[in-house]
Parts: sequence; structure tokens; C-alpha cells
Amino acid sequence: MPSINMDFVRKCFPGLKHGTVFLDNAGGSQVVQQSVDHIVAFLSGESVQLGASYAASQTAGAAVADGRAALATLMNATRPEEVVMGATATQLLDQLARSLVQGWQAGDEVVVTNFDHEANIGPWRKLEAQGIKIREWKMPQGADVPDLDDLRALLNDRTRIVAVTHASNIFGTIMPVREIADVVHQAGAKICVDGVAYAPHRAIDVQALDVDYYVFSVYKVYGPHHAALYGRYDLLRNDARNINHYFYGEDKVPNKLEPGNPNYELAAGCRGVVAYLEAFAAAHGVNATGRAAVEAAFDIMADHEAVLSERLLAYLRSRDDVTILGQAVADRAARVPTISFIVNDSSSEALVRQVDPSGIGIRFGDFHSKRLVESMNLSSGDGVIRASAVHYNTVEEIDRLIDQLERQR
Ligand SMILES: Cc1ncc(COP(=O)(O)O)c(C=O)c1O
Repeated sequence: MPSINMDFVRKCFPGLKHGTVFLDNAGGSQVVQQSVDHIVAFLSGESVQLGASYAASQTAGAAVADGRAALATLMNATRPEEVVMGATATQLLDQLARSLVQGWQAGDEVVVTNFDHEANIGPWRKLEAQGIKIREWKMPQGADVPDLDDLRALLNDRTRIVAVTHASNIFGTIMPVREIADVVHQAGAKICVDGVAYAPHRAIDVQALDVDYYVFSVYKVYGPHHAALYGRYDLLRNDARNINHYFYGEDKVPNKLEPGNPNYELAAGCRGVVAYLEAFAAAHGVNATGRAAVEAAFDIMADHEAVLSERLLAYLRSRDDVTILGQAVADRAARVPTISFIVNDSSSEALVRQVDPSGIGIRFGDFHSKRLVESMNLSSGDGVIRASAVHYNTVEEIDRLIDQLERQR
């Protein structure tokens, strides 16, 4: 496999020219030029209301439809109608929960975890007010991968959905989603996966994972501030209920789940992410388009990310005053380069604020995985320090961070 061409990569992101070292990518990534170009083109020439018969409206509709198709390509959905677009992953999960519950009975159950971002917990927990029983799948103390037997013990014939993350935004651990999906399906339930922390690093494949619902945020995957929810077509058609205007039929998939329409220019901008991945593949000698290019690009990125992870993890391992949360060794099958740690008995905020003037963007806290971070009773008292890389980061940038961490000792 070719090694990553950093000259090519860095030139594709206008935001990287300004000198900041972005190591808060799990919060939000830089945007590729292709997405910027699509948004500008839409706003400066194509922006009219969709759905009319005149030519300009048809052109605008095609741009938005192409954006939806690009998101389907990114997730390997079987058709664009399986993609619900929205402002954020949190909003889409909230909409999904409000939609699905309309087909459930009081006493039905959902399983949420204590290790997800709240976006995939809160919307399901809110259903308790409608008589839905909530069960919690807990991360064992000291572990960063949950126990499938614990999940099995929570499932029964009233379980309607299990909500779980694909990669932890704290540990960086990649969860065994296919195995989880198999367990969930054997119990007759459905699975809803939060792929927000996974999507910037690996090609999502909803078919190979055999998941029922899957969400990610495009603004963490090099695109605009927009989000996408996959739902298997028959489930969106039959299980999900209309939350749009009353006169939208249940066959209006996916628009029945997009009240008020998604943002058009941002939808159009999503095309830029696939265009970038295609250009990335080509720049690395891979002659592919569409899904094949997406897979080839993320494959090359994953190797580079493992190099970045290992650089930082090796440094953190060398310190006896540091606790790494999650896998301490880089392994592309086991973790993404979202690396959390604490300096034992020291404030995480204080260290991050000392690093801030260097122009390196890292951050501290619970990152809205509040239940998980609180369950760990960390000696920092104020959450973890998180450095989250993506493929456009360089080894030199990691070394600059290490240098800063050394200075604060
Ligand atoms: C793992 C994970 N899930 C969900 C979210 C929420 O995403 P959004 O801002 O699109 O609602 C985040 C945001 O940081 C996240 O890291």
C-alpha cells in the first residue's frame, strides 16, 4: 500500500495554511476545498427552493440529491433514500427516537450504554416518559471494550433497539459492531450505531456491519456542518413514523424524517468529501472512483494514523505520571487516533491552558461522554486531556505537542 502523500493532503485543506496545529479533530475537522467550492457554487448560482418544475429548481434539487448520494457512498448504503440528512447527529438521533417510539408499546425496552456520547443515550432515555423501559449496558470498570455477555443479559423479547457507539470518543477504541449487531438481531431487536468518532478514520460499511441505523457528523469528516443518518430502507418505510407534516405519507422516505428540509448548500457541500477521497485515491496511484476510492483512501489514511498514534502513545507510556485511557499501543484494528490521558492527580484544564499559547489545539473535559468519564473517577478531577489526530496531521505536529507536554512537566 502506498504511504500517505502529505504534500497532496495538506494542500487540500485551506484551514491548514494558518499555522494552528489541529489536534482537536474529534471535535470537528478542517474542511476540504472541494466542499467549500460546492457550497460557494450552490450559494452563488444554484440556490432556489427545490421541488418546482422550472429548470433552476431542478438543478438545485439535483445538487442536493447528489449530496445525499455522496453520503450514501460514504456509508455504503444500498440507495440514497436510506440517508436522512440533518443539522447534527444529536438532532437526527432525537428525531429517530421520536419517530420509532410511535410504533412501540408501553413496556417495550431500549438498551443504552454508559459509554456513548450523550447524543446516542439521551434521546432514547427520554422515551421513558412514554412508558419505554430503559436498560443500561455498562462498561466494566477499567475496561475500554464492553462485555457482550453483559449485553445478552439485558436483551429480551421486549427489546426494540440497542444504541451503541462504533468508536469511543474518549478511548478511541473501535467497538466490535458486527458482533454486537449479531447478538442484537438474534434477540429480535434492532441496532442504532453512533459512528461519529469512527467516520473520520475508516470507511463506514453499513452493509458489512449489518446495522439497522447509523449516524455520523459530516463536519468531523472533512465536510460542512451537516449530519447523516442511515436507516435500512424497509425500516425507514415501515418502522419509522412520519415526524414531518401530517400529509406526508409513510412512503415518503426519507423526507418524512426531515421536517423543514435539510440545509441545501451544506447537503450540496457533502459531494466535496467524496470528491476529495477520489482525488486522494488518485494521488496515491489508485485508479478508482466512488465507493472503491473511499475504501482505498481510508485504508491509506489508517496506516498513517497508526504512526501518529504510536508516536504520542509511546511518549505517554514513557511517563510514569501519566495514565492513558484506552489502548496504550497503536493498532489500526483496535483504535483510532483519539487519545485521552490524564497526568495523575493534576488538573487536565490547567495543562491544556498551558499548551494553548503554543498554537496547538487540544482540549479537556468529558466530551459529552459524561456518564463514562464520571464512572472512571479520575484523579484529575476535571476530566481527560484529549489529543485527536486525523490523517492530515504530521509526525512533526505530534512532536510539537510532545515538546509542549515536556515543558509543562
Ligand atoms: C461520538 C460522538 N457522537 C455524537 C456527537 C454529536 O455530534 P453532533 O455535534 O453532530 O450532534 C459527537 C460530537 O462530538 C461525538 O463525538
